[in-house]
Amino acid sequence: MMRKIGILTSGGDAPGMNAAVRAVVRTAQYCNVGVMGIMRGYHGLIRNEIFELNPRSVADVIHRGGTILKSARSMQFKTPEGQDKAVKNLNDAGIEGLVVIGGDGSFQGALALQSRGIKIVGIPGTIDNDIPCTDYTIGFDTAINTVVDAINKIRDTATSHERVYVVEVMGRNSGYIALYAGLAGGAESILIPEIPTNLDDIVQRIHTSYELGKAHSIIVVAEGYSGDPEAGRDVEHSAAFRVGSYVKDKTGFETRVTILGHIQRGGNPTVMDRILASRMGEKAVRLLVQDKSGFMVGITNNQITAVNLEYALAQEKQVDLGFHELAHMLSST
Ligand code: ADP
Ligand code: F6P
Repeated sequence: MMRKIGILTSGGDAPGMNAAVRAVVRTAQYCNVGVMGIMRGYHGLIRNEIFELNPRSVADVIHRGGTILKSARSMQFKTPEGQDKAVKNLNDAGIEGLVVIGGDGSFQGALALQSRGIKIVGIPGTIDNDIPCTDYTIGFDTAINTVVDAINKIRDTATSHERVYVVEVMGRNSGYIALYAGLAGGAESILIPEIPTNLDDIVQRIHTSYELGKAHSIIVVAEGYSGDPEAGRDVEHSAAFRVGSYVKDKTGFETRVTILGHIQRGGNPTVMDRILASRMGEKAVRLLVQDKSGFMVGITNNQITAVNLEYALAQEKQVDLGFHELAHMLSST
């Protein structure tokens, strides 16, 4: 019987991570298992930033964005020496199983720990929804609601001024946020890395819409659209500015660019994210208590699942191309 587990959050934070931490701590208490919180992901693990959590430690966090355990990226953890140190600290703290909440990078780290004898379970927490073998990741629903709220506001001013607006959203190399928020926000065009799009087709759509009496247009662009999400850190080279200047030059329409940035990562988690996090947190503990290691918790057709983590990471998550066609069809007249 496992007596003590650890939990950490790693990589980009996501709304709902706190709800998952809460579910892990309280399920563990229910199963008579102790929980140690590890601060700042693998960075804190190497530095031995480990402390005891009890059910009261996670009071009043279900509604908060960010992560009370904080998050960090650690280059040192990618080295064998860093991983040895991490394992030593886990062993010294009496941690027999570890719950890792994060994205694919964090899961690679979890697998490295598993290969060194630590029992691990992963919970997908990232706004990008880019993890295979799960329909949704924690934080995605909140992020797309934030984006749609922003698009609604931009729509007000876009229609008043009869302008073209290019809105850049996050997602690293994935178009999920752009696709869902674009469809729900009624965007006229959606540009994502998974679907190569000729910008002249977008220009043509704007002209056609204009002839049909639509004088404004909202183009949602995923940050990874032009193949380099990092370019978004350098505003002039961001996907949105490139698209915006091309469209402006070709159409002559007044064009504005908005990069939503990190507001997409914050805010109170939606009901859907809180429920998802609560269910996934519970499942993660149940797996460890049953001595099961190497799994990722997922959700498929509203059923919580346990998938082999190594297998999951080897798969490719496909976006639903039908969403793209539907969004374009519904906004073309
Ligand atoms: P995410 O989990 O959101 O994908 P990152 O890719 O930044 O975020 O990964 C988070 C952390 O996980 C990294 O800072 C690093 O410490 C660890 N990590 C990432 N990739 C690996 C890997 N291949 N092997 C071991 N650890 C890794
Ligand atoms: O993975 C989550 C994410 O927000 C991506 O959408 C984005 O590309 C990246 O993290 C931003 O990272 P940082 O916080 O380092 O700017």
